[in-house]
Amino acid sequence: MRTWIRALRPFDAVPVQTHVERTVDIREAERFIRLFHAENPSAGGLQARLREVARDVARHGTYVHTFEELEFGARVAWRNSNRCIGRLYWRSLKVRDRRTVTGAEGVAIECVEHLRAATGNGRIRPTITVFPPDTPGRRAPRVLNEQLIRYAGHRGRGGAVVGDPRCVPFTDLVRTLGWRGGPGRFDVLPLVVQPGVGRPLLCHLPGDAVLEVPIVHPAYPWFAELGLRWHAVPAISNMCLEIGGICYPCAPFNGWYMGAEIGARNLADVTRYNQLPAVAERLGLDTSTERSLWRDHALVELNVAVLHSFERAGVTMTDHHTESNRFLTHLAREEKAGRVCPADWSWIVPPISGGVTGVFHRYYDERVLTPAFVHHR
Ligand code: ARG
Repeated sequence: MRTWIRALRPFDAVPVQTHVERTVDIREAERFIRLFHAENPSAGGLQARLREVARDVARHGTYVHTFEELEFGARVAWRNSNRCIGRLYWRSLKVRDRRTVTGAEGVAIECVEHLRAATGNGRIRPTITVFPPDTPGRRAPRVLNEQLIRYAGHRGRGGAVVGDPRCVPFTDLVRTLGWRGGPGRFDVLPLVVQPGVGRPLLCHLPGDAVLEVPIVHPAYPWFAELGLRWHAVPAISNMCLEIGGICYPCAPFNGWYMGAEIGARNLADVTRYNQLPAVAERLGLDTSTERSLWRDHALVELNVAVLHSFERAGVTMTDHHTESNRFLTHLAREEKAGRVCPADWSWIVPPISGGVTGVFHRYYDERVLTPAFVHHR
């Protein structure tokens, strides 16, 4: 369907379109171009660029970001991420421009390269790789995994899950696509790339692209026997990067971990690895009553272990106290720059010792700004 023709005949009745076929909303494009020039006065040529963008959108239903616009747009999408406590370093995001990579194999190769570059032997660098945007008439490739690295969840007989219960549906999917992995607790899932047209591609991540950290405790040698581990890089791969009306559906990005994401959620949630009972048992805590606070005690030791293990392995990680203070610094800086810093309290407050961190004791502006990372249907 040659939807771009519609842009030349604005009086046609426009049928319902999916976001894939949608032409760029010129107001969003213009708003972004103005933002870019307002924050990058040295770029110059605002009026000429506005005319150029308006012309391209009228002719083709879309326009092409310069590298500088793309880099700025991606960084501001991070700055606008209401749920992220780690935004102080938003300007340092490394942007890998891969808008010319269209094939599924190429996307897979570049995702692997992303992981290698971002992992940096443990010195983790916040990085985003931007693949082609959706345009009227052409659907861009996508990565179907929620993160580039995740552990499989194997559903056993009787319903018990080995591995990450969160990933059971995705594990089932890759099995139907031919994956024969498992049945361990920490099996790295293959990458699934859905090209614009055609069948999805399954790709195994090579071992050197996946740095993992075994979890040990500084004081309890038995902790290693729990057999826990986690991957070094959280790289979200299923969110669209929206900049100036253009949607980049494939733009995997990563920061580094805050210990509590692993210690107080991934390994601790009852619906994830549910490790608090095992830790409490080894600690010899009284689990017969909630009032012994065995969960809390076990949770602290698990989080001590996660932070200690990453440190010992030489892998970048932050703790929730440091990150809370950094976020308050970030808020102050943004305010000083004359900007609002929107935030979602329920995501910003750490899942452990919330009230002991500064971010707990205030409210935040909740508006939603663009550029942004968004989940599309
Ligand atoms: N909470 C997610 C996880 O545990 C990762 C989200 C992004 N985190 C980050 N530090 N950039 O895998």
